[in-house]
Amino acid sequence: GNYKEPYRPQFHFSPAKNWINDPAGLVHHNGMYHMYFQYNPGGIEWGNMSWGHATSDDLTHWEEQPVALLARGYPESASEMFFTGSAVADVHNTSGFAVEDKTPLVAIYTSSYPIAQTLPSGKKVREEQQSQSIAYSLDDGMTWTTYDAGNPVIHNPPAPYEKQYKNFRDPFVFWHDQTRKWILVTALAEIHKLVLWSSDNLKDWQVESEFGPFNAVGGVWECPNLFPLAVDDDESNMKWVMVLGLNPGGPPGTVGSGTQFFIGSFDGKIFIPDDESVHPGNQTSNWMDWGPDYYAAASFNGLEDSDRTVIGWMNNWQYATKIPANPWHGAMAAPRHLSLKTIDEKTTLIQQPHENLRAIESNGSMLSSWKTFSEGEKGLGSVGKTMDIELEFISSDAKEFGIVLQATPDWKQQTRVGYNFANKEIFVDRTESGDTSFDKTFASVYHAPLTPNSQGVVRLRILVDWSSVEVFGGEGETTLTAQIFPSRNATFAQLFSIGGSTKNVELGIHKVSSVWN
Ligand code: FRU
Repeated sequence: GNYKEPYRPQFHFSPAKNWINDPAGLVHHNGMYHMYFQYNPGGIEWGNMSWGHATSDDLTHWEEQPVALLARGYPESASEMFFTGSAVADVHNTSGFAVEDKTPLVAIYTSSYPIAQTLPSGKKVREEQQSQSIAYSLDDGMTWTTYDAGNPVIHNPPAPYEKQYKNFRDPFVFWHDQTRKWILVTALAEIHKLVLWSSDNLKDWQVESEFGPFNAVGGVWECPNLFPLAVDDDESNMKWVMVLGLNPGGPPGTVGSGTQFFIGSFDGKIFIPDDESVHPGNQTSNWMDWGPDYYAAASFNGLEDSDRTVIGWMNNWQYATKIPANPWHGAMAAPRHLSLKTIDEKTTLIQQPHENLRAIESNGSMLSSWKTFSEGEKGLGSVGKTMDIELEFISSDAKEFGIVLQATPDWKQQTRVGYNFANKEIFVDRTESGDTSFDKTFASVYHAPLTPNSQGVVRLRILVDWSSVEVFGGEGETTLTAQIFPSRNATFAQLFSIGGSTKNVELGIHKVSSVWN
């Protein structure tokens, strides 16, 4: 495509055509970001699961590459599909896959076997079994060889969970420097458990521990990630963050899939969540994103801990196959930079758009401010469809303050993003955002908690693209991501203050350029 079709994301990754879901195998190697992803080479719906591939040197401009791991048996009928996984650069050649001096990249993924079979390794798998397998690349991630002599390297779930062989998936691997071992996290999806493993060579894996169930347990647990972050930039105070997806069972007010996290400690064997990160029996889990469209978040290997970067699939299993985009289905959320900060004595996960976004913003910004913004609306005109918006304000006597985005000239279509002072909540209202007809749950309002800062200031940063809004509240302690499908002429915006006035309003609208020209 020319990346100008209706709803085509202009600064988010989407494939030229066909279906995508989870990002996988995110690895930064030799100055290049590699993003693999769940991909159907043969259609716009889920199927023939393969690893698609895109590369970037700046996390904003992506070049789609040939399929990296093509479903075995495709296009007739797949006998092995390549589900979600992860990848590392094996710089010490622990795997023995190196030839001459070439550093092997090693990917670990879930082999999903639709049919029972005996594999080239001699191992037998059952119908619908899920096992963990590896592949390696000796040309910096461009082409891959599956390790047929040994695959799958983790054949079955560990005792006593052998019965879970149909729901055992999504290996996330990383190098753990303190123990000088590879660590792997896999999901026992149905029973809301994660299993942690260790290895010296990426081929032989020992069980170290298990984690869960904790907090939100709706549906299945999938797509785990585990990584360290410094607290308040103090590298002598590292904590570990466990991220995982739930489907269904996302945040309150959403239907379908969502992402939660835990903050805790990890010694190379056991991940122990902090007490303040565990909420037994209640609904207020740690939601990584409070919107409906942030799933399967995965972090890059090969970057410094201080450069922890994650990408999520900006979609929801509830309606992913029905969204009106064509000839593709699915896009990735903007890459996020993660950190931990102590706010009100609590260790808090902070997410910000990756700073490279600034490099594709134009200099011509619209900046305005109001000491007192009286009750009512103020039109901003036709501001466009690809923006990075910064909005801050202080409570006066209004009930709500916010901005209407992606509105048609007659205001019939509009997406409302704002703050409710009484509830201390961000909201995104997409009930009239454009095409909402494809799923009965889509036309909804979403909420995310946000406390004003110690000066009473509410800060919203809003990334707007042709078919999405991503809200980062405060310093990034709350995010809310939602897809929208407005008409092409939905370029208008206005600010609103409802039920009274709002103080010290500062607005900046920065245009973001298309990365596909
Ligand atoms: C999550 C998921 C993973 C699985 C993949 C299959 O979105 O269900 O658990 O590996 O998608 O495409």
